[in-house]
Amino acid sequence: MAEKQIRRIGVLTSGGDSPGMNAVIRAVVRMSIANNIEVLGIQRGYSGLISNDFRKMTARSVDGLLSRGGTMLYTARCQEMFQPEGQNRAADNCRYLGIDGLVCIGGDGTFRGAQTLSRLNVPCICIPATIDNDIACTDYTIGFDSACNTAVEAIDKLRDTMQSHERCSVVEVMGRRAGHLALNVGCSVGAAAILVPEKPENFQTDVVEKIRQGRINGRNHHIIIVAEGYSMACQEVAARIHQETGVDVRVTILGHVQRGGSPTSQDRVMATRMGSAAIQALLAGKSQRIIALRDNQIVDLDIEEGLSCQKELNYELLEAEQTMAI
Ligand code: F6P
Repeated sequence: MAEKQIRRIGVLTSGGDSPGMNAVIRAVVRMSIANNIEVLGIQRGYSGLISNDFRKMTARSVDGLLSRGGTMLYTARCQEMFQPEGQNRAADNCRYLGIDGLVCIGGDGTFRGAQTLSRLNVPCICIPATIDNDIACTDYTIGFDSACNTAVEAIDKLRDTMQSHERCSVVEVMGRRAGHLALNVGCSVGAAAILVPEKPENFQTDVVEKIRQGRINGRNHHIIIVAEGYSMACQEVAARIHQETGVDVRVTILGHVQRGGSPTSQDRVMATRMGSAAIQALLAGKSQRIIALRDNQIVDLDIEEGLSCQKELNYELLEAEQTMAI
């Protein structure tokens, strides 16, 4: 691919934030400056691109970011970016600012925006960052490990009180339409059942009988993990468990707490690897690419290709955990 001179780039975060986004911003800014590239931090995702809301970034403006949750550039879900008018304005503003490339950090919605801009001749490189880990073309999305750990820490605390009162805890975990977060969290806490959108359950055998069997085997408390995208709301799950078994049930929705907090080492390292790869890709003249992790290697692939595949749940892991939950 032809080398292109890159003098100035933009970086933005868009969609739901995730722990490690700040660490990516740091990597992008520092790697750019080391390559004599100026960086503009676009604020509030694509909304900021449309309204020319940006700040000049320096090596010092990203000090201390490795350990900070959230995103210093703010984030937004931008409806205007779905309309040609907004898309053209965003591309025009990039040209006006002399932006030779854009690094877009976020999930699949962010990638769609980047795909459109790439087609409008703004070279874009995407970095996957979402707690959902639901982007098919990459084994990992930044923030997933931190969110898992936050959820696990909270559920470990719940277990103490559930055990004391001999209750059943039904815990809702985020993940949008996917069950990856719920599966990893459920495995990490030894859940009696993990309910995910990808796999239909037989409620009687997979939940009610599991609880009964656990009781017979001497278990006095139970944890049921429900992915937010599961077909039944966790209140309904709790009501059915109580009705069928008589056990005292409490519902906990972990919610946005899972998106906050300092990123884990895994997320910080991944942010450094992917942020650096994004700048290398721009320097190599690439556009419309997603930086991805595949078999522990950092690769890049076309956005369209990346968005067209489906991510499978790790059914083997689900099966193993369900077998052990006795
Ligand atoms: O995509 C990340 C995520 O946290 C999902 O898990 C969740 O469904 C959604 O964002 C919540 O979005 P919002 O912050 O807009 O309520």
